[in-house]
Amino acid sequence: MEHKITVVGIGPGSKDYILPIALKKINEAHILVGSSRALADYASEKQKTAPITADIQAAMAFIRQELSNENVVVMVSGDPGYYSLLAALRTEFEPSCLDVIPGISSMQLAFSRISFPWQNADLMSLHGRLPDYASLAYEKDRIIGMLTDAEHNSQRVAMLLLDAGWPQNTNIYICSRLSYPDEKIINTTLIRATAEPAVRHCIMVVLG
Ligand SMILES: C[S@@+](CC[C@H](N)C(=O)[O-])C[C@H]1O[C@@H](n2cnc3c(N)ncnc32)[C@H](O)[C@@H]1O
Repeated sequence: MEHKITVVGIGPGSKDYILPIALKKINEAHILVGSSRALADYASEKQKTAPITADIQAAMAFIRQELSNENVVVMVSGDPGYYSLLAALRTEFEPSCLDVIPGISSMQLAFSRISFPWQNADLMSLHGRLPDYASLAYEKDRIIGMLTDAEHNSQRVAMLLLDAGWPQNTNIYICSRLSYPDEKIINTTLIRATAEPAVRHCIMVVLG
């Protein structure tokens, strides 16, 4: 029998935002893989676990080894379809052995928090990468939602957007620690964001 890898989205962080089906798959797992934070939140003593660290190949090797005997559940943050380990899993394993359980993305939650529809937004990730310069260009009424990281943080991204021709008084939201008790939503402008403390891992929503 072919065993399956179930890739489960655990949402943006707080347990209030995980789907019941995701929780069921996690609780039923014998083999559970995820970030150390996810394992601390969801793993139980009777489960065999492995952390996902910067050494992705180590996690892949563990999954491959366990998969020969058992189904494996892999937890990822937010939604698996949006910048997660799913892409790497698809190159390492046959897509037919993958099952995906969606989760609420941090991007969705950011737009919810500011009560703004995201159907017309351009979504991009600056997490560990820079998009080509042209994709940042200013256009009136353009809406962008961005994932950021420690290097491409709120200050740096604000500077990039000003360089790309966005007006200084462009309205932006910097959304961090979404769903957690210390969640913070800062409403500011691009020029002010270049002087305010840098927020590292967050969602930036830019309203042109
Ligand atoms: C590798 S991406 C994972 C995205 C995830 N798959 C999703 O759908 O939310 C990591 C980035 O997501 C964003 N992120 C994840 N959780 C967040 C949260 N609770 N609050 C704000 N941003 C978050 C940050 O930009 C972070 O650098």
